Amino acid sequence: GLPARVRIHEVGARDGLQNEKATVPTEIKAEFIHRLAAAGLTTIEATSFVHPKWVPQLADAEQLFPLVRELGAPDGTAALPVLVPNERGLDRALSLGASRIAVFASATESFAKANLNRTVDEALAMFEPVVARAKAQDAHVRGYLSMCFGDPWEGPVPLPQVVRVCRALRDMGCDELSLGDTIGVATPGHVTALLTALNEENIPTPSLAVHFHDTYGQALANTLAALQHGVTTVDASAGGLGGCPYAKSATGNLATEDLVWMLTGLGIDTGVDLGLLTATSVWMAEQLGRPSPSRTVRALSHK
Ligand code: HMG
Ligand code: MG
Repeated sequence: GLPARVRIHEVGARDGLQNEKATVPTEIKAEFIHRLAAAGLTTIEATSFVHPKWVPQLADAEQLFPLVRELGAPDGTAALPVLVPNERGLDRALSLGASRIAVFASATESFAKANLNRTVDEALAMFEPVVARAKAQDAHVRGYLSMCFGDPWEGPVPLPQVVRVCRALRDMGCDELSLGDTIGVATPGHVTALLTALNEENIPTPSLAVHFHDTYGQALANTLAALQHGVTTVDASAGGLGGCPYAKSATGNLATEDLVWMLTGLGIDTGVDLGLLTATSVWMAEQLGRPSPSRTVRALSHK
């Protein structure tokens, strides 16, 4: 069966904007996040405390994070997770009062090297003190796992290789795991196979989220497969913004509007106002100077 409610983990301001050539002004980012909260999104990934040379688009994290909190969500309840790769990033995030963080591992050696300048195991060792210290401060910790299905350099990724890193992230203390199809090559049968393998490893399905990129137009089909398997947290980016600067063939994430359209049709509650969300993505597309790739945004904003 399908869940009655799905929690959307909105990644447009982070996964989306990290991949834009143009650097979006801090005030526009803050307004974007504020509008996403006003549209009913309750988990909005705000930015990354990574090395500014690696992701210059998010180098304003110190300015943005306090500004977003100051503007506040309309009812002050939206959670604002941030990415941190190491203890330096954690220090930066905690000093600004972040209470939800995400580390980001890779299932493949090629991407671990490209994204974190580490082997898979060196990256896990880098995260260990981050997760321990965050948990000691009662922070919520998400563990991303990239390249769960295919890798641009290594091709299809064997399931046991993915399961091993999921196990390590769980054992480290991550509250939630987000299974990333970084380059968008997954198809629904592969999604079901991975979720089944994780069940066999006793990794609880409620602690899992799915993170699909829509490169081959499979993101919604993959999401449906995950929902049928019991997953209730889905990552998406408003307007379909996104990609990944260290994985060349990645295009945008599943568009939040496309997701909300499907879930609404299935009678699944998200708490999101599709009209307000679409207006936000149309506005952001104007800021970026190019139309949203989301089919739903285009259909609903067609004049
Ligand atoms: P490194 O070059 O190995 O860094 O990069 P290092 O540990 O050798 O440190 C070098 C210098 O950087 C030091 O300064 C550190 O203090 C500084 P120095 O002593 O030379 O003056 N430094 C920092 N400064 C600010 N903030 C920090 C920080 N860390 C070190 N946090 C590092 C290693 C991990 C830092 C680098 O590789 C990095 O920042 N990578 C981030 C890449 C990234 O953000 N990628 C995108 C997110 S992942 C993604 O999009 C996938 C996802 O969406 C899921 C999916 O789709 O699959 C999540
Ligand atoms: Mg991503």
